[in-house]
Amino acid sequence: MRPLPGMRVPDGPHASAVHRYHDGSTRTVYWTTREVPYPDGRLIVSRTGLDGAITHANAAFVEMSGYPRDVLIGAPHCILRHPEMPRAAFEDLWSTVVSGRKWHGHVMNLRADGSFYWVYATVIPNVRNGRTVGYTSVRRKPSRRKIEALLPVYRSQLAAETGA
Ligand SMILES: Cc1cc2nc3c(=O)[nH]c(=O)nc-3n(C[C@H](O)[C@H](O)[C@H](O)COP(=O)(O)O)c2cc1C
Repeated sequence: MRPLPGMRVPDGPHASAVHRYHDGSTRTVYWTTREVPYPDGRLIVSRTGLDGAITHANAAFVEMSGYPRDVLIGAPHCILRHPEMPRAAFEDLWSTVVSGRKWHGHVMNLRADGSFYWVYATVIPNVRNGRTVGYTSVRRKPSRRKIEALLPVYRSQLAAETGA
């Protein structure tokens, strides 16, 4: 995949780690405990090719990610990958959409400045003449109660994956 742009080191207290992506590439990611609330009344939409590289991003996607649009277009979606998200969630996403089905789930995304935001995402395959040509993700405001219920599940999945 195209190399990911480096992240700027946040000014205040933050964590950092060298994150390894699915294709074996690595990048140093920085993250803080600051959550940016999902913007009311908006949908965050993106489309990708079959490889997960971003082909379309709406204004809300650009604003919430903190990256300029020209950095996002052509970049892999894992540019938003938060190190506290378990791999299992994305394995489930990919195996579902590759088999032609719709995936729903809560995702914590990493912004360019190291803060994060939660979304409730619906990912669907885009089918033309019977062939999948890419994927669309539409994100809505997530329920706080669902996130609270999911946090321990994600934490234990992550611990199992990292051996922590
Ligand atoms: C349409 C679509 C939208 C996606 N949206 C996100 C997203 O918002 N955040 C994210 O971390 N991964 C998203 N992914 C999953 C990424 O492609 C990737 O699997 C994930 O970030 C984990 O990356 P890694 O396994 O390389 O670490 C999306 C995938 C597709 C197909």
